[in-house]
Amino acid sequence: MIDGKKVLFSGMQSTGNLTLGNYLGALKNWVALAEEYECFYSVVDMHSITVRQVPAELRKRARSLLTLYIAAGIDPEKACLYYQSHVSAHAELAWILNCYTYMGELNRMTQFKDKSAKHADNINAGLFTYPVLMAADILLYQADVVPVGADQSQHLELARDIAMRFNNIYGDVFTVPEIYLGKVGAKIQSLQDPEKKMSKSDENPNASIYLMDDEDTVMRKFKRAVTDSEGVILYRDEQPGLKNLINIYCACTNRTPDETVKEFEGSGYGVFKEAVGCAVNDVLRPLHERYSELEKDKAYIDKVIRDNADKAAYFAGKTLRKVQKKVGFPERPR
Ligand code: TRP
Repeated sequence: MIDGKKVLFSGMQSTGNLTLGNYLGALKNWVALAEEYECFYSVVDMHSITVRQVPAELRKRARSLLTLYIAAGIDPEKACLYYQSHVSAHAELAWILNCYTYMGELNRMTQFKDKSAKHADNINAGLFTYPVLMAADILLYQADVVPVGADQSQHLELARDIAMRFNNIYGDVFTVPEIYLGKVGAKIQSLQDPEKKMSKSDENPNASIYLMDDEDTVMRKFKRAVTDSEGVILYRDEQPGLKNLINIYCACTNRTPDETVKEFEGSGYGVFKEAVGCAVNDVLRPLHERYSELEKDKAYIDKVIRDNADKAAYFAGKTLRKVQKKVGFPERPR
């Protein structure tokens, strides 16, 4: 608890360009959650280097992601928006927690298996202990809740196990975090293969709408979106491409699938696709406007980065010192 509010932690990597899926599935909810919880939203750049990065790109994208958090409507005076690498307590706690995590546990992580298959030439120790750093992120702020996608729930389970193990040995040190199961965001699939999730790392740029896509690009991508040859607008599993388009339309216009099916009864796919494109552009337009204003205000963004890193370091430091004492590190003489 901070000032009578429950604490919420979440993080996003700045690798790749954020997609409409990231926005409708996560970021949009973060804005709403920041009203209710004391939120820490981190740009987890330390996680990003588990895969080789181009340094200048990583730096640029991290700033762009943080700016986007604000452009999306998160108030940096309320929620703490900061770079993970600016708060050294993350690395320090991660080291300690490494010593309370078993190789066997990490070996079971499906994301590690997937990523090591994908990056067979660089299966580094950081990739293996990635979930421990993630546990440190969460536990440092004594987070009560953590909203994550299904692909991260195994990591969250591990964070809970580590917290309980530590508490069993040393007493109540960590809040055991709950996975956030409130109003879940829209699940957005690829426009080219509706069986796959829309992903920022998709090689096919037509598969994803990037948040920074201009209006023509958005329209063009929807025009090319994969549908089927049924020719009727219905919301059902047999028409996964169309179903995904309806989900996108609903998420952008706050309509229900039923209303949408009625609205477009008798229309062709071309007409519907155009309507989806317009609805998405209506959502992206204010985001773009706000983003380009913010981007120009370098001093403001710098101040947000500085102030929020200090705020995060304050809370993280409190937990870290407690942990250091528990495990037997000597106190620093004053
Ligand atoms: N691993 C998460 C992802 O790739 C990002 C992340 C890092 C995170 N630390 C976190 C999410 C802590 C929630 C809480 O999506």
